[in-house]
Amino acid sequence: MRLLVAGGAGFIGSAFVRRRLVATADSIVVLDKLTYAGNRENLAEVERDTRLAPRLRFVKGDIADAVLVRSLMADEAIEGVVNFAAESHVDRSILDAEAFLRTGVIGVHVLLEAVRERAGEALAAARPAPRLLQVSTDEVYGSLASGASRETDPLAPRSPYSAAKAAGELLVQAYHATYGIDTVVTRGANTYGPRQHPEKLIPLFVTNAIDDQPLPLYGDGLQRRDWLHVDDHADAVGFVFDRGEGGGIYNVAADRERSNREVTAAILDRLGKPWSLVRHVEDRPGHDRRYAMDGSTLARLGWRPTMTFDDGLARTVDWYLANEAWWRSLRGGEWAEYYARQYGRRLAGSHEV
Ligand code: NAD
Ligand code: TYD
Repeated sequence: MRLLVAGGAGFIGSAFVRRRLVATADSIVVLDKLTYAGNRENLAEVERDTRLAPRLRFVKGDIADAVLVRSLMADEAIEGVVNFAAESHVDRSILDAEAFLRTGVIGVHVLLEAVRERAGEALAAARPAPRLLQVSTDEVYGSLASGASRETDPLAPRSPYSAAKAAGELLVQAYHATYGIDTVVTRGANTYGPRQHPEKLIPLFVTNAIDDQPLPLYGDGLQRRDWLHVDDHADAVGFVFDRGEGGGIYNVAADRERSNREVTAAILDRLGKPWSLVRHVEDRPGHDRRYAMDGSTLARLGWRPTMTFDDGLARTVDWYLANEAWWRSLRGGEWAEYYARQYGRRLAGSHEV
């Protein structure tokens, strides 16, 4: 099959591309805008591999560019779309939400229209209709005091990021209901692993701790997340693309819930760094207290995560230690401005935890 993978140069998308090319005979066209979070280097391993590289093509571009997306789908004879493309950081969505809506809503609409057009052509030529998989998130359920969100629960997003993600996936479901487009949606848990941009909790704290810089823990640090390793997330997306029911929604839970304090302690422990690096800083506005999902729908279909949190975190910390050039290059330029805006005042008013 020939797949279009949007956002395939990002953290989870690039893991999907690597693993999909190894596990299947598919060929892949990556469409990625290369925002500050996109990194061509994430695909370098595949591009250097003489067995895999012939099945990968990279196109720099925006999913909200309808002319580009339509022509790419036709010229490349695309038979399926997996959409990872999004602005993905909650803190940045609080500073400025516009790009989140442009990519998360308009961009998704452009992809859906292109798939609809291809579906019409496929029908006329008696070929299978293309499928679109939208990568969504557990954050669309909002904060959960207890229990675990099920796919049928109402959506209650509380940040501009999660509201844009909810809007995007609702549009996907609407296209399935209205036009009969073959769609599936995955809602993944908090993901961690190699090649995650250092703005997110785990890579930020790992890289700051390596440099003996303060670790800015929001609020009381007792917020809870379910932590999914990136390889598990990428494999679940492939599994749902292949076996999910048309119109289906699938939670990708990890069942490895930890508080932010526990995660921080595990990072410091692996690096042999002291707790005194941790700073208690002003909380994120509207900070969701807890996410947790029920993963039984996907388990019944035959998929479960394999990586334990202890193993996954240790390997992740070791990857950042071994790949300093990768993350140091992302902590220059635009990063310094973002860091000062997000953390300058917070760290100035911080104290030890
Ligand atoms: P990321 O920020 O690392 O990667 C996003 C990629 O999309 C980047 O390569 C970026 O250049 C690209 N992109 C952004 N806007 C684009 C546009 N308009 N057109 C084309 N490409 C564009 O994000 P990630 O952590 O890999 O997340 C991937 C997807 O998974 C997102 O949809 C995110 O909402 C979802 N998700 C992430 C997590 C997580 O914890 N990281 C958890 C659940 C779901
Ligand atoms: P993050 O990695 O931004 O993921 P999300 O907000 O999508 O869950 O944050 C994970 C948790 O870590 C979340 O509760 C916010 C917290 N956090 C901090 O305490 N300090 C930080 O500097 C960051 C980036 C996150």
